[in-house]
Order: sequence, then structure tokens, then C-alpha cells
Amino acid sequence: MMAKPVTKKISARKPAAKASAKKPTAKKKAVKKPAKRDMSYYFTVKDSVKVVQSRSGKRADKRTKFLVDTLVKHMHAFVKEARPTMDEWMYGINYLTRVGHMCNDWRQEFILLSDVLGISMLVETLNHEKMSGETESTVLGPFYIPDAPAYENGANICLDGKGEPVWVQGRVLNAKGKPIAGAKIEVWQANEDGFYDVQQKGIQPDMNLRGVFTADKDGHYSFRSAYPRHYPIPHDGPVGDMLTALDRNPNRPAHLHFMVSAPGYEKLITHIFTPDCPWLKDDAVFGVKESLIADFTTVDDAKRAAGIGLPNPFRMVEWNVVLSKA
Ligand code: BEZ
Ligand code: FE
Repeated sequence: MMAKPVTKKISARKPAAKASAKKPTAKKKAVKKPAKRDMSYYFTVKDSVKVVQSRSGKRADKRTKFLVDTLVKHMHAFVKEARPTMDEWMYGINYLTRVGHMCNDWRQEFILLSDVLGISMLVETLNHEKMSGETESTVLGPFYIPDAPAYENGANICLDGKGEPVWVQGRVLNAKGKPIAGAKIEVWQANEDGFYDVQQKGIQPDMNLRGVFTADKDGHYSFRSAYPRHYPIPHDGPVGDMLTALDRNPNRPAHLHFMVSAPGYEKLITHIFTPDCPWLKDDAVFGVKESLIADFTTVDDAKRAAGIGLPNPFRMVEWNVVLSKA
């Protein structure tokens, strides 16, 4: 008894199916292809770089566009090769946020990050390729201050009396070997405990181990300081965490910073390194260039030592600086 209506229902559908089959024009419309669209606006993994780069308008600043387009190209290539997970990408974002929060007037964690990734040295070196025997440059580092005290040549910049005394002397010359009279020589270094004065306010005397000298008419400069020793870069922040995760050391080999300037010449930012430091080949910021490793000699000359106010024997380094024309 129940089967009858079901049979009726099935047979009732048949004419309807037949009716639609009788309308060939309607069927044709349903399979019509959509109009072709320009898909270059939409993001695809394959064309990701092109899609992002093509968004800039006609009024884009040319150099900015070039820099950002190049960054996008390499960042997209990085993501496609390294394939970070969503958690790893968020870790990266949070990491850079921590780097930013670590920055203040005395701490520039972004520069430190660029330093330990070798980027500061790459930018520095590509911008200062030396062709004619000029002194090579290296990283500035975060501990330069522009208002250090000016001294007469021969002055002692070691105000805490720590460390082994060292006499530093030399000349500032141009590429033809002519003296640059009046050149400004700014120097700074860490103390015997491995800290700069600005890292130990209230512990070290202000302006300890930094000073500004002026080359005399023959280009000579000289000063007394302390034999530099190696020290760790600030590693109590996110950059230090990265070094630990990579099993890298935070040390910089022993050095003395120089910034030398004179009208008509390119400002030179450089260091001199001591030759006996165990960290020379493992500088945390890749700042060592072979030409910047100096000879520190020991002088045994009581009269000379007395003349410059040093105990005999004493350490000494002779370091000429050659500037490039601006
Ligand atoms: C420095 O030599 O003072 C220095 C350079 C780069 C990073 C940290 C410190
Ligand atoms: Fe330094």
C-alpha cells in the first residue's frame, strides 16, 4: 500500500526532466566561460614579488622604490626557501619588537643586530673601498660620543689609571704622503675591565679613555692611553639571546677606535687592533681587517720614558692614518 505514492512521485519527476532537456539555449548559457580578468592584481606564491612591486605608483621616489623592491625580492625569496611556520614568523615579529624596546639614548640594539649579522661591515666596506693605500675603515660601534674633551698632543686619556700604559703616536697623511695639518683625531676605547665610560656612569670617571687631538703642522699626533683588551658587546638583550642560540661568542678583539676628519677629506672611522688578542679571528661584529692590526712594541729607554711620563719599559704603537680626498 505504501509503495504506490513513491512510484507516483518518481514518474511525476520525469516530465520535468524532459522539459528542461527541451531548452538547449538555457544549457548553453550555463557553460559560458567568464570574461578574462587581469589576475596580476591578486597575490599568488609564484608572482608574489611582481604583485607587490607593481603596486607603487608613478610618483614613487625612484631610489626608495629600488631599495624597497630589492628588499621585497630578497625577503620573499627568504620566506620561500626557509618556509617559516606561523609560530616562527610571529617569533620573528616579537623578536624585532623586543629589539626596538631595548633601544634608548645609550643602547641601539638595532645597530647591534646589524653588526652581529655582518651587515654593518658589508655596508661600511662597500661604501669605503680604498684604492690608493688609504687607511681602511671599520664599524663605528655604539660608544662614540661627539663631545669628548680636546687635549694637547701627548696627554693621558686614561683617567681611571687602570691597565698597562701605552704610548700612541703617528701622523695623518694624504694618499701622496703629505701631512694633513690640523686634522681632528677622535679616539675612544674600553677600560681594563672591558667597559666604556658610558656603560659605567658613576663607576668610571666621565670621559675616561676618550679624547680629541689635533695633528700638528707635520701631521703628528700623540697621546697616552691603556693597552686595550677584548670585551663583550652588550649581550644582555635579544641580540645576546640570538648569539647564545647560535652558539656564538659575544667578544670583540682588543682595539682602539679612531675617527679622523679634515676639510677636503672623507671622514675615516676605524680601529687599530692589538696583534696578540685571542679573539682577532672571531670578532662578534666582523670588524677586523688585516691592515688594521698594529704592531705594539715594547720600548726600553728610561730617558724617553721619563720624557713622556711613563714607567720604563713601556708599550708603544706608531700608527699613521691616510685619508681619502672627499
Ligand atoms: C665597539 O667596538 O665599540 C662595538 C662595535 C660594534 C658593536 C658593539 C661594540
Ligand atoms: Fe669598541
